[in-house]
Amino acid sequence: MLDLTTKYEKLVNGLLDKIPFKPEIGLILGSGLGEFAEKTNIIKTISTDELVDYPQSTVEGHKGFIHFAELHNKKLLIYQGRIHPYEGYNISECVLPIFIAHKLGVSKLILTNAAGGLNHLQPADLMLITSMFSFNIKKELGELIGLAPNETRNSFTDFPSNKINNVIRNAALKEEVLVKEGVYWYSKGPSYETKAEIRMVQKYGGDAVGMSTVHEAIYASVLGMEVGAISCITNYAAGISINKLNHQEVMDTAQLVKEKFEKLVKKIIELL
Ligand code: HPA
Repeated sequence: MLDLTTKYEKLVNGLLDKIPFKPEIGLILGSGLGEFAEKTNIIKTISTDELVDYPQSTVEGHKGFIHFAELHNKKLLIYQGRIHPYEGYNISECVLPIFIAHKLGVSKLILTNAAGGLNHLQPADLMLITSMFSFNIKKELGELIGLAPNETRNSFTDFPSNKINNVIRNAALKEEVLVKEGVYWYSKGPSYETKAEIRMVQKYGGDAVGMSTVHEAIYASVLGMEVGAISCITNYAAGISINKLNHQEVMDTAQLVKEKFEKLVKKIIELL
């Protein structure tokens, strides 16, 4: 694991020569939500394929860009595109964006994703994540030992930050954007869930299912960042509607939500 830390530190050191400033707020844009980056004042973009050892995203709707941008006088680090475990990457590779953000000085992090909705969630809803199920990823999280400080590595509980969640609620009120709240269930993928799996998720208290975010949220909070996360509900979870799920539906709904999502995130950044 020491090797990995050394490798990542080398990557960050290489990056230090290229960056225009040290960012304070980090933002990861999920499937179909990447266009938000264009609503900010982008000062510099680094393509992840320029970075040796940076895993490349293979999913449509995930560009491999790291933007250094400004909005409301805040300095932002925006990941347009993320790396998912279902693409075959290890958890320790999937958290590299968080490792970099931390090293560059990011102390507040907003994670966004596309997710399937159940219970009170419908396509085109936004959901503030109030808690999450990470059973499906617990074993792999062990890889983070060595990448996280020893004394905190077992306290994976500091997510979400109450402070950040209150900022998100406030931003929603100010912009009159309805933001529902719920629990995110991590599902490893790469396939969508079965109807039976969704019935189980429903029984156990999940409100949205998705294949990302949990490991990033845990790792970032272990590193001491304040973290909040928002799901864009892009489809009914399997079996809730009769339609068969597909990635195009995810992308199409994200497009519909774009305006309110952008309005909300801009306000969150202003209030952070
Ligand atoms: N399940 C898992 N991940 C997803 C879904 C879903 O229904 N929608 C978008 N990402």
